[in-house]
Amino acid sequence: MQTLVLKGKEAIEKGARLIASGEVVAFPTETVYGLGADAFNEAAVKKIFIAKGRPSDNPLIVHIADKNGLQGLVTDVSEGAKAVIEKFMPGPITVIMKKGKDVPYCVTAGLETVGIRMPSHEVAREFIRACGKPIAAPSANKSTHISPTSAEHVFEDMNGAIPLIIDGGECEVGIESTIIDMSTDVPTILRPGAITAEMLAGVLGAVKTFSGKVVVAKAPGMKYKHYAPRCETVVAEDAESAIKAYDDASEKGLNPVVIAKTGTCALLGGRTHIDLGNTDAEICRNIYAALHRGEKIAGYIICEHLGDKGVCGSVMNRVLKSAGGKIV
Ligand code: TXA
Ligand code: MG
Repeated sequence: MQTLVLKGKEAIEKGARLIASGEVVAFPTETVYGLGADAFNEAAVKKIFIAKGRPSDNPLIVHIADKNGLQGLVTDVSEGAKAVIEKFMPGPITVIMKKGKDVPYCVTAGLETVGIRMPSHEVAREFIRACGKPIAAPSANKSTHISPTSAEHVFEDMNGAIPLIIDGGECEVGIESTIIDMSTDVPTILRPGAITAEMLAGVLGAVKTFSGKVVVAKAPGMKYKHYAPRCETVVAEDAESAIKAYDDASEKGLNPVVIAKTGTCALLGGRTHIDLGNTDAEICRNIYAALHRGEKIAGYIICEHLGDKGVCGSVMNRVLKSAGGKIV
């Protein structure tokens, strides 16, 4: 199959036609690129799992263009869920609620709940509107690989497997949406993101954060390998340990690279590095592109520990998974 990469009105019109004919289409959102299909078309949804190589017990998020789109998708919406939707949608958040009867079980992987997301990206919203249907979509990477934040990243993973990539430039946020489970009595964050626990607690009073120590993960996808570059990746506690890890790896002929904040990059001498920027927003926006670039130019990635608080905490949630938890 030939994979087209198109922009603008032409891309959206072609994308909507492909969705209507039961195909899958990659599209930009403010978080990462998604791989979409008509959420009501089971055969089309199955194609997503095949293109990604994704296990079928890992549910998909359903994307809508505006609040009317919620109709029929969810039921028993709590006051808390309404408040979160009101405050943070459209934006980088997915809200898990009891599913409506129209949502097929192949989307929810047999669960009675469904994750709903309303992207703020204009191209995403125009595309979903043009489709006239809710769009089921995971991130547009091959299963276990790094999520894509540009059309080029999607092309690298999906060339030949899907008919169209809608190119909307680079993703503004850069990591996947925060997932909050509002289907239970205590709202629980299943995946941290740019909407932080502090921001959600401001609306809900209290939220439970995902500790990582829970043995049976509630977000089914969390038990799988995730965000993995194709070469070994480690996290360095500070600049000094990054330099030491780099020099050790160099000696072994591993061709290392350091991914770090601008301030740390200045301390690295002539060592190969990728600069993430300095602010939380820059670091979040640049992290996946840095990992994609790292696996291309190097054989060993050392990422600086970026901190535990706020958005950097959400970024480190991904980086530690990329590194399989290895800290040097
Ligand atoms: O930012 C995002 O959320 C991107 C863009 C494309 O919208 N999408 C995304 O989808 O990251 P995906 O499939 O790569 O990650 C969704 C995660 C998976 O770990 C899945 O297990 C979990 O959400 N999930 C989906 N539905 C769920 C449900 N009903 N209950 C618990 N977890 C759910
Ligand atoms: Mg994903």
